[in-house]
Amino acid sequence: MSSAPDRTAAAPRVAIVGATGAVGTTMIEIIEERGLRYSELHLVASSRSAGRKLTVAGREYEVQAIEEFDFGQADVVFFSAGTTVSEKWVPVATAAGAVVIDNTIAFRMDPDTPLVVPQVNAHELDRRPKSGVIANPNCSTIPLARLLRGIEDRWGIRNAVVSTYQAASGLGYSGVEELQESTRASLQGPDADFEPQHFKPALAFNVIPKIDRFLDSGFTLEEEKMLQETRKILGLPHLDVTTTCVRVPVANCHSESVYVECQSPVDRAELVEVLAALPEVKVHDRETVTAFPTPAVVGSSDLVHVGRIRATQNNPRAFWLWLVADNLRIGAALNAVQIAEELIERDTL
Ligand SMILES: NC(=O)c1ccc[n+]([C@@H]2O[C@H](COP(=O)([O-])OP(=O)(O)OC[C@H]3O[C@@H](n4cnc5c(N)ncnc54)[C@H](OP(=O)(O)O)[C@@H]3O)[C@@H](O)[C@H]2O)c1
Repeated sequence: MSSAPDRTAAAPRVAIVGATGAVGTTMIEIIEERGLRYSELHLVASSRSAGRKLTVAGREYEVQAIEEFDFGQADVVFFSAGTTVSEKWVPVATAAGAVVIDNTIAFRMDPDTPLVVPQVNAHELDRRPKSGVIANPNCSTIPLARLLRGIEDRWGIRNAVVSTYQAASGLGYSGVEELQESTRASLQGPDADFEPQHFKPALAFNVIPKIDRFLDSGFTLEEEKMLQETRKILGLPHLDVTTTCVRVPVANCHSESVYVECQSPVDRAELVEVLAALPEVKVHDRETVTAFPTPAVVGSSDLVHVGRIRATQNNPRAFWLWLVADNLRIGAALNAVQIAEELIERDTL
């Protein structure tokens, strides 16, 4: 299915802020693939990209600088241009009457802003939010919340311990470019001229157990986001989830190692059934010895991939699993487009 302006029906006018970035570009692909209905499409970025031409569904669009864009021309605006851009421009967009779907941390914990993963809490979209904003959660939180929902509903969660293995594309195009440069420099040897800007120490042939800044608690902001956002999405304000977030030298797709202790004993076969029945989840369950998901195997995918499902030997209520999800699609652009689809379906724009 491909999307194109739909002038016959009451299709919304759509704008994408950050259209030239990793998330924005992926969003354009997903809008084309899924045939999201729009009557007008506006592509917005910084003045650096103003005038650039991008093709969407066979039509050419000129990128507009945010300072020049009239937000009154859009009914729904996707923001993926960084937190400071959202803090400044989202209020302008909502004041002009648009509903905003925001990919940054700026409004996620605002009580008047729903934090939505459509497979988990689409009911939050039944009415237009007081703030005019719907927040898209953190890229590692989205796939985790989707699995925890099914586990909570069946067994109740006592606590979860998560380690993430996050790809360089979590920092956008510049993250992937830096991983490539850093790898080339490492292969050239110690005299190579390379100074990391984003990943410190350099990410090539390395793993970095720090994403975003350290908090006084010793956790990082990324780890705190995963705790607070998971609680808000699941509507479980006391849920015990503790996380270590690690950057790994992978271009795209985040992975997570997840240990869950439930309120009641968990039968492994039933767990596999419960996970496989969740929407847009693929379970890889020992079909062959190599049948576990990895970023390179999963590639660009609209499914949350789950494998290595193991009952623990000493605790019948506990188990481990491994998940892999495309952070640019599931963790950002796809989730945002699915929110827009739900809004259109509910006529709450
Ligand atoms: N990457 C992920 O996996 C992921 C997941 C979830 C959420 N997010 C969030 O999504 C946002 C974008 O991430 P990304 O990975 O797409 O980054 P990116 O590849 O660096 O793209 C950034 C985009 O923002 C635009 N931009 C930058 N400064 C701007 C300004 N002052 N005014 C208007 N537009 C501006 C850029 O436009 P120019 O081309 O003009 O510079 C570009 O289109 C970030 O807030 C990020 O935290 C990312």
